[in-house]
Amino acid sequence: MSIHACIFDLDGVLVDTAKYHFLAWKRLTDQLGIPFTEKDNERLKGVSRMDSLEIILEIGDLKMDPRQKTEYATLKNNWYKDYIGRMTPDEILPGCLEFIKELKLADIKVAIGSSSKNTLMILKQVGIIELFDAIADGNIISKAKPDPEVFIKAANMVGCKPANCIVFEDALAGVEAALNAGMICVGVGSAKVLTKAHFVVSGLNEMTLKKLKSIEKDSRL
Ligand code: G6P
Ligand code: MG
Repeated sequence: MSIHACIFDLDGVLVDTAKYHFLAWKRLTDQLGIPFTEKDNERLKGVSRMDSLEIILEIGDLKMDPRQKTEYATLKNNWYKDYIGRMTPDEILPGCLEFIKELKLADIKVAIGSSSKNTLMILKQVGIIELFDAIADGNIISKAKPDPEVFIKAANMVGCKPANCIVFEDALAGVEAALNAGMICVGVGSAKVLTKAHFVVSGLNEMTLKKLKSIEKDSRL
């Protein structure tokens, strides 16, 4: 098999942090008097912190200067960190640990490719940081997904060529980033939404090494 590395997005693939992002943004939007629903929160998946704030300000038709933007983004992040600081290993999504174990036994590298600047904190909090051969996160990139930077960096860190990597992603921008990197992409979520992915599963509990091999084969046809 020519798959040498699997690169995982974090939020929505390995752990469900969208609810904590929502609670923290909701607290901010309530304070600012902006209407903000769970449906709006869907638009923020895979989007960087500052770009998320821009979307929220657009919803509320509110203008802010750069200093205020930084202040409010920091406030939101402090509330978010309060939530993720209480996460437990039970919040690792079903099937993740089993699939990663299978990959390691097969000598396939496992890496993280996430836009989140809180990646290390979350991985430590749920006790899985040791599983990864490389971690590329929001702190080491200058261009957000759909730019391929984070996935290219993850591939470089494990010494694999993009063509030998498979990305697991739950956000549209992330699927595009993987394709822009020249990698195979497995969407995690709804096939109706993640239409550009080579293959879609509803969660990593649907993944096995055998399935990985067949996805690889099909995507090269
Ligand atoms: C992930 C999440 C986004 C979040 C982004 C930045 O991509 O899906 O919802 O905005 O990370 O997260 P951060 O932890 O750096 O604020
Ligand atoms: Mg995600």
